[in-house]
Amino acid sequence: MPRSIKISPSILSCDFSKIGTEVEALEKAGADYIHVDVMDGHFVPNLTIGPDVIKNIRPFSKKIFDVHLMISPVDKYIQQFAEAGADIITFHPEATDNTAKTIELIKKFKKKVGISLKPKSKIDIIKDYLDQIDLVLIMSVEPGFGGQKFMPEVLPKLKELKNIIEKKNLNVDLEIDGGINFENSKIAKEAGANILVSGSTIFKKNNGDLKKNINLLRQN
Ligand code: DX5
Ligand code: ZN
Repeated sequence: MPRSIKISPSILSCDFSKIGTEVEALEKAGADYIHVDVMDGHFVPNLTIGPDVIKNIRPFSKKIFDVHLMISPVDKYIQQFAEAGADIITFHPEATDNTAKTIELIKKFKKKVGISLKPKSKIDIIKDYLDQIDLVLIMSVEPGFGGQKFMPEVLPKLKELKNIIEKKNLNVDLEIDGGINFENSKIAKEAGANILVSGSTIFKKNNGDLKKNINLLRQN
């Protein structure tokens, strides 16, 4: 049974002076998830928000908070993000010295586990964990900034993961993140993604008509 397509708008592109009301507007506009990009200025050359901001925006939406941790080291912050209200906690394998331990830590707080692969990272580094996680986040830009150009060279990785998941009958969502727009959303879905992350397209296209942009990404 093909998985329904979900749209997870990234708040990295929202108005940071009113994140709570922006999250509320995304829910009203039909977002399935809220993608929260956490950056520490160390794992990636940019700084965004921490667990306290997530705690403060939590009451603004009941939607799943799809938290993308671009931070290292990551283990020591998992509890704070879990308690702040994250529902899915996605980490980068390069940000931990023990991927299995980080997976267990996220599960200890009863959260869904995601692993993210940077454009140049190989599937091999996560193959052994696919039966223990809920989501793989394929980066189609170098992590760190919104508004970058989509990197189609990651699509074969998406296809290969899709085949593995189907062959082993695993219950793993495939999320693509970075440069997703109305032109490439179709090929991303055809390659196997069932969750599309988008920041600049959703917040900036069609005069920022969130509902229209979310629907266009879902339908295209
Ligand atoms: C980049 C983030 C992405 C980014 C997506 O490091 O992980 O989620 O915000 O933004 P757009 O859709 O503008 O590329
Ligand atoms: Zn992200």
